Amino acid sequence: MSKQFDVVVIGGGPGGYIAAIRAAQLGFNVACIDEWKNAAGGPAPGGTCTNVGCIPSKALLQSSEHFEHASKHFAEHGISTGKVEMDVAKMIARKDGVVKQNNDGILYLFKKNKVSFFHGRGSFVAAKDGAYEIKVAGAAEEVIVGKQVIVATGSNARPLPGAEFDEVNILSNDGALRVGAVPKKLGVIGSGVIGLEMGSVWRRLGAEVTILEALPTFLGAADEGVAKEALKAFTKQGLKIELGVKISEIKNGKKGVTVSYADAKGAAQELAVDKLIVSIGRVPNTTGLNPEAVGLQLDERGAIVVDGDCRTNLPGVWAVGDVVRGPMLAHKAEEEGVAVAERIAGQHGHVNFATVPWVIYTSPEIAWVGRTEQQLKADGVAYKAGQFPFLANGRARALGDTTGFVKILADAASDEILGVHIVGPMASELIAEAVMAMEFKASSEDIARICHAHPSLSESTKEAALAVDKRTLNF
Ligand code: FAD
Ligand code: NAI
Repeated sequence: MSKQFDVVVIGGGPGGYIAAIRAAQLGFNVACIDEWKNAAGGPAPGGTCTNVGCIPSKALLQSSEHFEHASKHFAEHGISTGKVEMDVAKMIARKDGVVKQNNDGILYLFKKNKVSFFHGRGSFVAAKDGAYEIKVAGAAEEVIVGKQVIVATGSNARPLPGAEFDEVNILSNDGALRVGAVPKKLGVIGSGVIGLEMGSVWRRLGAEVTILEALPTFLGAADEGVAKEALKAFTKQGLKIELGVKISEIKNGKKGVTVSYADAKGAAQELAVDKLIVSIGRVPNTTGLNPEAVGLQLDERGAIVVDGDCRTNLPGVWAVGDVVRGPMLAHKAEEEGVAVAERIAGQHGHVNFATVPWVIYTSPEIAWVGRTEQQLKADGVAYKAGQFPFLANGRARALGDTTGFVKILADAASDEILGVHIVGPMASELIAEAVMAMEFKASSEDIARICHAHPSLSESTKEAALAVDKRTLNF
């Protein structure tokens, strides 16, 4: 007889593995199926995030930042190093080690929480007696049964038509994270999050990087002031960013890749590079899931259709993370996974989409939560803005990193915080205070009245809150 479970989770990325753990904590008998294989063919749970996304990209960002500091900035501190050299193979091996620690950590967490892990591809077979039969195709094949099913099958990189990924010359995020030597010239299509993060890694290591972006505006989703400051900083660092381009042809040859495009003025241009990263967004992944077997509804983009609570069109089938609508972020996937497990348990799982933070781990880092100035204007909301530059922050000066600012936007009448936008050092950590403040519906005055440690970057958040009331103390 097939193994029976209260909850079967298909996909072991941040959406799936966190849902499985939360469901197990709530007392359910849980299985999680994930097909990702490590180089030896063994299980590598953690999904895109752990294997070819958040974690490895941050490992390379850290290594390349150390390299840049050692080569360009240590001297300011009186440290002489001689010629600094980069061993790319060692950097990649370290990154692989960090990934493995995370894979192993998830396998440990499954054991600790008594989640049954199945290594293989999960696909729907049939709905039967109010439950679902799921085939697991791994080293062996078996069918398991779940009363409730959570689909968390994630997303894949979107290829540019006519420029399929070969992961040698034309790279998705996967290939971009395991380039064997620093390319002399690197092209990037798309100045979104991956383009900027991966472009930064290889630029810091010495590549001449050109990013081609279709839209005429840079980082349109970010606050305009933040995007402007970031573009200035990236350009100064040597990242060449061309906006408003139209790609006409990509030729992949033995010696590299040639991109033909029209620039913003319509003039024909050609860019010859050794490697090309294509980072133009991601598409939901349901490959091999066999949704047709049970009539699971997908939309025209291939995303699983869900309501605000992650319920699909089928009773007892839920979907979370990149495979459904909403931002493709690991923490959004996790929050949905927890909320679904709690809903299955009859609790009131909750995800507040209005306070999902965004972070881009470039240098300067970019982070925001809530609405931008341009959104507030478009929504006709009367607001007050307060901004404080890191240039006036003692800790930032001591760090030697004074680029950027913190900006707080608050409702003109109630003073409730509507958005916080940070470009500068450790923005990824600073944004947590803003998320917390918005979750508690804080006013800018609330932050202004909280004691912040000195000297710390977080004092800039307090000062930005004071600036909303035009009473900064240090600027
Ligand atoms: P995934 O992580 O994609 O996991 C899905 C899993 O399901 C995979 O392991 C897959 O193998 C498995 N699977 C699929 N189909 C089946 C099947 N039929 N049977 C069994 N298993 C299956 N987000 C952030 O928040 N912060 C970041 O810093 C960040 N950096 C990123 C950097 C890069 C380069 C990329 C590409 C993405 C980054 N993201 C980041 C986005 C983040 O990785 C995703 O939002 C997140 O991984 C989505 O989680 P998920 O669980 O929905 O899907
Ligand atoms: P993205 O959506 O961030 O950016 C894609 C960019 O490519 C856009 O600016 C778009 O205008 C541009 N583009 C699209 N088609 C184009 C074309 N034909 N020619 C030129 N430009 C074109 O997508 P990206 O960078 O691929 O990342 C995918 C997702 O992964 C992100 O949306 C994000 O959700 C997630 N991610 C998150 C990270 C983080 O949180 N720090 C890091 C990396 C990825």
